[in-house]
Amino acid sequence: TDRITSICCIGAGYVGGPTCAVIAAKCPEIRITVVDRDPDRISAWNSDSLPVYEPGLDALVKRQRNTNLTFSTDIDRAIDQAQLIFIAVNTPPMPHTHGSSSMGAKPDLSAVSECARRIARVSLTDKIVVAKSTVPCGACATIAGMLRDNGQKGVGFSVLSNPEFLSEGTAVRDLLHPDRVLIGGDDRVAQDKLKAVYMHWVPEPRILTMNTWSSELAKLASNAMLAQRVSSINSISAVCEAVGADIAEVARGCGSDERIGQKFLRPSLGFGGSCFHKDIASLIWLSESLGLPEVAEYWHQVLALNRFQIKRFVARILADTSREGGLSGLGGRRVACLGFAFKEGTGDTRNTPAADVCCELLRNGAKLSIYDPRVPRHHIVDKLAMSAASNCDIDSVSVCSDAYSAIAGSDIVVVLTAWSEFRQIDWEQALKLMSQPAYVFDGQVVLDHGRLEQLGFNVFSIGRAHVTTQ
Ligand code: NAD
Ligand code: UDX
Repeated sequence: TDRITSICCIGAGYVGGPTCAVIAAKCPEIRITVVDRDPDRISAWNSDSLPVYEPGLDALVKRQRNTNLTFSTDIDRAIDQAQLIFIAVNTPPMPHTHGSSSMGAKPDLSAVSECARRIARVSLTDKIVVAKSTVPCGACATIAGMLRDNGQKGVGFSVLSNPEFLSEGTAVRDLLHPDRVLIGGDDRVAQDKLKAVYMHWVPEPRILTMNTWSSELAKLASNAMLAQRVSSINSISAVCEAVGADIAEVARGCGSDERIGQKFLRPSLGFGGSCFHKDIASLIWLSESLGLPEVAEYWHQVLALNRFQIKRFVARILADTSREGGLSGLGGRRVACLGFAFKEGTGDTRNTPAADVCCELLRNGAKLSIYDPRVPRHHIVDKLAMSAASNCDIDSVSVCSDAYSAIAGSDIVVVLTAWSEFRQIDWEQALKLMSQPAYVFDGQVVLDHGRLEQLGFNVFSIGRAHVTTQ
């Protein structure tokens, strides 16, 4: 059996770009062409400023671009020349059916189907087609059916499921050192060919072959379980606040049990990002469509708890800051919002809890000064303007280029993303820049609360009993 020497990846996004850069770096004998229907994306990949920020990615892409990695809009040509084709296009949730109370949402597979039809039409030689996008159970079988029905006579297709587990902000590291690689399928020869690609750098025991359904479901289940851990610790954070326990201590106490483990127990304003909501919604939809409402309800609670965290954080800000002065709501008060990305280490704002908090604050009459080290100004404004359907007053928003200018003249500081640089802020200096009494609400449990209290701030943190100095 021939080894793979030519790969095409359809979809030059967060997944396609970094994944192919790593394959190119590790497999010098493989030529890789990453294609996309969006010409701006492709020119950005070919420019000095890549469309995706990831530590280590710039150097990797710039090195490989001159050798075995190409970014192109010529999709048909790349398909024609490849032995193996990754489908790494987006699979967003379908819009909610009007009136449906379910949190379930079927993923929109139209981009994946379009790729399958195009591969069928263009291919003149046998191809291995690999679903890298996150798809519902059964999607690979559907892709195989489309290829069979629309393909040229005599051309054979093997479809594999090879879901991606990278996290944003650590994509390159995750791709270089994956915990595991799943290769689902029923064609052993094709599975072995893809496995041989990964074996250039991934230890064999970490490459798991399995049937297609298991691989597809393991992806959804992994994200659902990770999100569930976040909702679990966040549910306990609400209890901590009420009884006087400290969530950091509780997390350490629980996580020290090796069966539970320390990772992914950071209390927060809830999970955001492009994957968790969508994949849980997909799992809920799947459970409902299989006639398993109890399973659907179980995962629904993970999403419900996630929303609760934001609701109670905003309620806390309102309750604490309207105690004195007789002001109702946040009318006219300036809130410095530190962080806007859905997590630290990235400029991505998809499903960011920060936007939900900002909108709630605006709705309650606050003026916002927002600072995030990675999110461009226009993304923040666009994101909030898009939520303006819910009556956000976008004129009350200013975006600042550093933390101190956001804090200057504000009454309240809220921490919305767990950027470690917020710990380095000179809080003594910050206090002088603020109106008094000064408040800090730490939604990501990143600041040194004892020190802030000593300085004279009123401090509230998720998961800690409430202490005020006033
Ligand atoms: P993305 O939106 O960043 O990129 C997808 C790209 O596909 C876009 O550039 C788009 O123009 C292109 N595209 C869409 N339809 C196309 C078509 N018919 N032909 C050519 N190009 C087309 O998405 P992403 O974040 O890279 O996610 C891709 C898939 O990987 C999704 O299924 C997602 O669930 C999954 N995934 C994402 C992550 C993550 O961290 N972002 C992690 C694991 C899995
Ligand atoms: C996630 C999965 O981790 C990854 O395996 C999958 O391929 C894509 O989805 P990502 O969304 O990039 O990756 O980020 P992740 O680090 O998982 O964080 C998701 C959200 O959960 C973020 O909003 C983060 O702030 C939050 N989170 C994470 C917590 O609130 N607490 C934690 O302990 C961990």
